[in-house]
Amino acid sequence: MKDGYWLVGFQYEVTGTLYSLGRIPQCKVAMLKHLQPGAKILIAGVGHGTEAIEASKLGVHVTAVDLSRTMLDHLQKRIDKFRPPTPVRIVHDDIFNVKEFEQYDMVIGNFFLNVFGEDTVPKVAQHLSALVKPGGHLVVGDFMLPEKGWRGWLQRLNWYLAISIYAATTEAVLHPVWNYAGLVEGTGCKVQEIQYFRILGLKLYWSIRGKKPG
Ligand SMILES: C[S@@+](CC[C@H](N)C(=O)[O-])C[C@H]1O[C@@H](n2cnc3c(N)ncnc32)[C@H](O)[C@@H]1O
Repeated sequence: MKDGYWLVGFQYEVTGTLYSLGRIPQCKVAMLKHLQPGAKILIAGVGHGTEAIEASKLGVHVTAVDLSRTMLDHLQKRIDKFRPPTPVRIVHDDIFNVKEFEQYDMVIGNFFLNVFGEDTVPKVAQHLSALVKPGGHLVVGDFMLPEKGWRGWLQRLNWYLAISIYAATTEAVLHPVWNYAGLVEGTGCKVQEIQYFRILGLKLYWSIRGKKPG
């Protein structure tokens, strides 16, 4: 299986944390508060799995999916280190090959939809939504959609700095910031909550929770 992160995967979590002054890891775990022990969640494009470990500590059953062996090896090292109480199921595959439809209380795609181009991203969002149980949650954490005025230029700068590096070193595609709230709504999930993560008052990341009709 193709590993788009073989070159830069090792530093992904540390760099993201430093780059965002800790906001990216906060964004990744923001919606776990809605989970009860025993809930089933799937994390698409899990990477090093900050939210997978935290969810497991809450007694949640986590399925972690990623195409990259490098990323999953780092997740496994963290599992070995933190020994979370509930086992994390690791699936090394393309998310489109996961066909456990309507099985999950929550499906999370953190900084995942941003790797896809304009034609593919709605299909990926739709697939994630199809994995959510009726009445369950689809959660997307990512770069903030640029606002109007000077704030928007700083938000764009924040995105283009990051994507330029990853488009050059991985299979991520260079593109404008997608409207992640719109993508969630486009799957039929109704947005219930948005949490913003700011630096000096500027919204740079957001976590969006949509609810699938019951
Ligand atoms: C930008 S990284 C984000 C990683 C992690 N979610 C985070 O926030 O740190 C995107 C991840 O999605 C994975 N990925 C990309 N396309 C995928 C696909 N079609 N199926 C499963 N994982 C995929 C990549 O291997 C990578 O680990």
